[in-house]
Amino acid sequence: MDLRLLAALGALLCVCCSIEEGSAYTFRTFMGAEIAATAISSSALVQRPCECRALCRDGCMAVAIRRQPPRHFHCSFTERTIADTSTGLMVPAPDAKIFYKRQGCLPGFTLVDNVGCIYVSTVALNFTAAAASCPFDSQLFTANFLIDFNAMREYLLKNFPSSVKNFWIGLERASDIVTWKWFGGGTIGTAKPSLYWGYLDPNGKNITCAALTYIPSINYFYHMADESCESMFKFLCRQN
Ligand SMILES: *[C@@H]1O[C@H](CO)[C@@H](O)[C@H](O)[C@H]1NC(C)=O
Ligand SMILES: *[C@@H]1O[C@H](CO)[C@@H](O)[C@H](O)[C@H]1NC(C)=O
Repeated sequence: MDLRLLAALGALLCVCCSIEEGSAYTFRTFMGAEIAATAISSSALVQRPCECRALCRDGCMAVAIRRQPPRHFHCSFTERTIADTSTGLMVPAPDAKIFYKRQGCLPGFTLVDNVGCIYVSTVALNFTAAAASCPFDSQLFTANFLIDFNAMREYLLKNFPSSVKNFWIGLERASDIVTWKWFGGGTIGTAKPSLYWGYLDPNGKNITCAALTYIPSINYFYHMADESCESMFKFLCRQN
């Protein structure tokens, strides 16, 4: 293809791409990762990274972008679902990043950068009732990575800076007491200092539920705290 024509096509695709980002799809980003070779359905060599995303159409679920010296970008496309790192369809690659394409948020959910689509309840319920009340296709918020957790905290600090003190999240204490289990898999310990727990938590002997807690006077800025499961709190759900 004529070089000028190719450049024009690239520019056009990038326009498509930015429109697409704003409407039909949102992209979730995984830094430092590449799609595993077994999951790659096709690939392309382009001049700008946004072209990789623009070319991820129809059945394409995600695209990994890697710089290809001297001045190209290599796109690897997959038609597999790689919504989180636990699927084994991603491999570490310091010079690459993956854009995972997903449908927009369901009604009532808000897109929170680096977290996904989040629903903040308007009613306060006990933990069991809260877990059963997340809207269709969502469950109580869980943090697969520290980046999700901190992004969730930032969102709450910005949007609920004073009126609400606790939100239930999808975390429960395991029978061994020192381990806490995220809904849907993954665990978190209780060693201190912790990047998740407030510095006084967890501290309840018989307490098996966890919330994000805001108590500025003791430096809890939506850090985790164990809370009696019967307490009535609002809750956070994440779209699957
Ligand atoms: C913890 O719960 C168990 C079972 O519900 C109960 O037997 C025990 O007394 C409780 N311990 C404390 C310290 O509240
Ligand atoms: C939680 O709330 C539900 C609905 O109000 C109630 O039926 C249930 O008994 C409560 N459970 C606890 C442990 O408080």
